[in-house]
Amino acid sequence: MKEIHDFKIIRREQLGQHYFRLVLQHGGTMQPVAPGQFVEVQVEGRPEVMLRRPISVHDVDQETGTMSLLIQIVGNGTRRLAELREGDSLNLVYPLGHGFSTDIASGSRALLVGGGAGIAPLLHLSKVLGTKGVRPTILLGGRTADLIPVRDDFEPYGTLCIATDDGSLGHKGLVISHPAFAESYNIIYTCGPTPMMKAVARSAAERGIRCEVSLENLMACGVGACLCCVTDTDQGHRCVCKDGPVFDTAKMGKWMNV
Ligand SMILES: Cc1cc2nc3c(=O)[nH]c(=O)nc-3n(C[C@H](O)[C@H](O)[C@H](O)COP(=O)(O)OP(=O)(O)OC[C@H]3O[C@@H](n4cnc5c(N)ncnc54)[C@H](O)[C@@H]3O)c2cc1C
Ligand code: FES
Repeated sequence: MKEIHDFKIIRREQLGQHYFRLVLQHGGTMQPVAPGQFVEVQVEGRPEVMLRRPISVHDVDQETGTMSLLIQIVGNGTRRLAELREGDSLNLVYPLGHGFSTDIASGSRALLVGGGAGIAPLLHLSKVLGTKGVRPTILLGGRTADLIPVRDDFEPYGTLCIATDDGSLGHKGLVISHPAFAESYNIIYTCGPTPMMKAVARSAAERGIRCEVSLENLMACGVGACLCCVTDTDQGHRCVCKDGPVFDTAKMGKWMNV
């Protein structure tokens, strides 16, 4: 069930120049949040930022009622959010959208491919896969090493592989040129820049591997009312906020090949 709630910021970490992470405390009973679902964050103190901003749920601890957000500073809204401090409150609408499917058999081979801020939802996903008996390969990419924040946090939950454009860490090149990408998998999950996700999805389709992409279209309402986030699927136009953000690429031929 969706909830509008003031969370308390109990920890704030600056992660280099471009990213920060907020750990939020619900203070009561937090709604269950599936991997790949997102929140709409209210940005206060900046009248020009009227609309809430969609941010993936990065990590969840249902028992303690905490969730984390990993945020890249790109514009007025995220710059304002970066000014928040521990003890401040943050109003969220959550949980939103349909997340990744995690109903896979124990021992399945899963690959998680993340780029840029798209690595955010993959931490919660890798933890949930672990509870299903799946230890995924986690392939994270970025232009440089400092643009792949929190990579060490993934280490306990899978086999971590890194690709950087400049070779400052891990494999030098795009994620799809990393040797781990060419291995065989039962499923590939991906979130990040659209060209990266399309390349991952096309390769998965060629190899007959099931693939799920998490789209990050521009959003306004976040609940399927304004139609500003629609994407073209093989079943017609769909709202990324309500019908996604995660889509099975078996139904995304049009999106994949444009
Ligand atoms: C479902 C979903 C989950 C997301 N999860 C995360 C997350 O976990 N962490 C994170 O850092 N960001 C995430 N984003 C992206 C985030 O919502 C935007 O970066 C944010 O709204 C930008 O707000 P702003 O006011 O700072 O920038 P604006 O001033 O609104 O925009 C600044 C620049 O960023 C571009 N931009 C804005 N939104 C997006 C977007 N969705 N995709 C690509 N470019 C965009 C604009 O075109 C513009 O060039 C997510 C987006 C979606 C739709
Ligand atoms: S953001 Fe309004 S319909 Fe998706």
